[in-house]
Amino acid sequence: MTYKIADHLKKEFLHESTGHDWWHIYRVWNTSKYIAQKEGGNQEIIELGALLHDIADWKFHDGDESIGPKKAIELMNSFQIDKNVQAEVVKIIQEISYKGAGVKTPMSSLEGKIVQDADRLDAIGAMGIARAFAYGGAKHREIHNPEITPILHGSFEEYKTSKGTTINHFHEKLLLLKDRMNTATGKELANQRHEYMVEFLTQFDLEWNN
Ligand code: ADP
Ligand code: NI
Repeated sequence: MTYKIADHLKKEFLHESTGHDWWHIYRVWNTSKYIAQKEGGNQEIIELGALLHDIADWKFHDGDESIGPKKAIELMNSFQIDKNVQAEVVKIIQEISYKGAGVKTPMSSLEGKIVQDADRLDAIGAMGIARAFAYGGAKHREIHNPEITPILHGSFEEYKTSKGTTINHFHEKLLLLKDRMNTATGKELANQRHEYMVEFLTQFDLEWNN
């Protein structure tokens, strides 16, 4: 069944251009399965959580967080997914997002912890760098502006409405993710990707200051 849902999502999200395209979903799905092999959890909930986690992200719906769960339920109903499984998947969608440096985003199930780790791994490393600039471009953000300093947002509202630069996004989110991973497997995978981003930023600074 997850393959049929994956097929459906591929058609809908293939040409999305903000870094939330089908291939992001596909990578999160794969990484979730990999982490689950090591950490356990219910396979169906993990796979559906991964496949549906960005189905209607608030970032693309005027900050509205209620559309994602609604669309996910609609889709899961059309594929006759068990109601108890649906409830767990919806919880993942509701809890997964980063909400600012000062805002805790705990996942209430092992399945959620795994999918959140997989999603965050795709936000860092080479993949994270590519996605950050794609998103920044799509949202008309500046690449870098030395006159604007990063903000460690203390509330989701502040984070949601902030219009910072993409380089600042590294300091406001991406560099902080390594220490917010849930599972041992996720932490291990995050370290190498983190180092790569640090190297990129060092080189960026070097070239900027030349
Ligand atoms: P989350 O729900 O935790 O935000 P997503 O799967 O929606 O995770 O992906 C978020 C990704 O979108 C970020 O890691 C980054 O690549 C991109 N993104 C979000 N906000 C910004 C921003 N302000 N500047 C640049 N990229 C951003
Ligand atoms: Ni995602």
